[in-house]
Amino acid sequence: MTPPPQRPEKQINLMRGWPAHSLLPAEALRAAAQKALSDPSVYQPGLEYGPDQGYQPLREALARWLSAFYSGTGAADTSSSSDGNGDGGKYSHAPDADRIVITGGASQSLACLLQSFTDPALTRRVWMLAPCYFLACPIFADAGFAGRMRAVPEDAEGVDLGFLERELRAVDAEAEVEERAEKDGERRGFKDPGPYRKIYRHVIYCVPSFANPSGKTMSLARREGLVRLAREFDALVICDDVYDQLQWPVTSPDATTLAIADEFPARLTKALLPRLIDIDLSLGPSPHDPSPPSPAHAFGHVVSNGSFSKLSGPGVRTGWTESSAALARGASQTGSTRSGGAPSQLAATVLAELLSSGGLDAHVARTLRPAYRRRHALLLVAVREHLVGPLGARVSEAVRAPSSSSSSSSVSGEDLFVYGGYFLWISFPEDGGVPPARAIAERCLAEENLVVGAGPRFEVHGDEAAVRLERDLRLCFAWEDEAALVEGVERLARVIRRMMDEGAGAGAEEADPTPGDVGQMK
Ligand SMILES: Cc1ncc(COP(=O)(O)O)c(C=O)c1O
Repeated sequence: MTPPPQRPEKQINLMRGWPAHSLLPAEALRAAAQKALSDPSVYQPGLEYGPDQGYQPLREALARWLSAFYSGTGAADTSSSSDGNGDGGKYSHAPDADRIVITGGASQSLACLLQSFTDPALTRRVWMLAPCYFLACPIFADAGFAGRMRAVPEDAEGVDLGFLERELRAVDAEAEVEERAEKDGERRGFKDPGPYRKIYRHVIYCVPSFANPSGKTMSLARREGLVRLAREFDALVICDDVYDQLQWPVTSPDATTLAIADEFPARLTKALLPRLIDIDLSLGPSPHDPSPPSPAHAFGHVVSNGSFSKLSGPGVRTGWTESSAALARGASQTGSTRSGGAPSQLAATVLAELLSSGGLDAHVARTLRPAYRRRHALLLVAVREHLVGPLGARVSEAVRAPSSSSSSSSVSGEDLFVYGGYFLWISFPEDGGVPPARAIAERCLAEENLVVGAGPRFEVHGDEAAVRLERDLRLCFAWEDEAALVEGVERLARVIRRMMDEGAGAGAEEADPTPGDVGQMK
């Protein structure tokens, strides 16, 4: 092995999915905390145990904020199935705090949802879009689903619905034969869901917009199809909708954002597409809701798992779910929530102030979106120069804003393309002579003091072979500063060139370097 000239002293970490220190809204949080802690009507409930569904002013502020952000999404429609709020969005919904529950962030919330709505004896499979947010896998394993997580492939539009439908059908057919063979023909679960919860037969886990790790955004047609499948097969779709607000315009799917004017289309202060929960709510009662039909049991099939982590800093450990009111009530009945009320009660008082004062919107609009837009562009320019051109890599692309709403807001009269989130996903061609991603990641750390996310880390635990990611890398543009993003790609390209010069293209899979705590990387 040719030794590299010299290992740089400063580490560059393109794996870490954290916001940069410079992007934390400390001043706005200080002002909100000062206000909350100066007013006994706020700090007294804030410092006590709270209600199971969470701090009411935050639930109300979130209901308004989410309804405004997602209003107008989906094709305009005046059909009676929509309870739209009059702005022409087929999937718009009026604010309703009863559908909101305050959580300790998306990860804690996922664990609680599994405690309340799944049973390892009755819930047959967890279907995860692959590549997946790898830290969700241990949460599913802790809930009893080790060995029963299944990878669902994606194409450019998102989830492969045909594959998922076939597999759901096959698993159900097999489970029904097994259950019939059991002693009294009825399988019993470990849990008693009681009157406010139900056990779903399947779970589908996804990140529909600006996904971690793939950067992909699922099309409207796939969102509608996924909700249809969930309603047919009695699945709960858990959507980590944690990046939706972090979006910006680009000129075309593969162009860089640096090429366009600074102006930010007003259209992008609203969501690009409806959430799956918005689609499910519009479809009304489900045949799988317990009978007799009643609003208290209209659980539906989707929960939107939201978080303040990417908006105001992960350390606030606060998030929310939006779902049917029945599912929200059930979620708040999770045992650990009933003992003490919803998590993050004090943080909720501060975030309620930050949201109501407009401080959060200002931070997203003035700091986060411009910063991520620029970082994304710089990283993309470097990737195109060093990895796409010379090595034939493909890189995650922007999506076209739905035409019904982009016409009035296109940049310079052109179509509006949008990217968002934290990540670029890079795929090298199978036969291009580029070494496997794990080997690249190991050499990057050893020789260039560079941390990158190798594709296999994002394979679904226990079903790795179904969607192999040996030629893929995830690069995060949220953590390192602008200069380091560019230098990181230069270091990466140096390592790949060196390995290719050594003829390591067909090299054996080596261990994925795991510097420090994997939880430190997201
Ligand atoms: C898809 C996804 N879900 C959940 C999380 C974690 O969210 P939280 O900090 O709210 O637990 C992350 C953070 O990287 C994420 O990317």
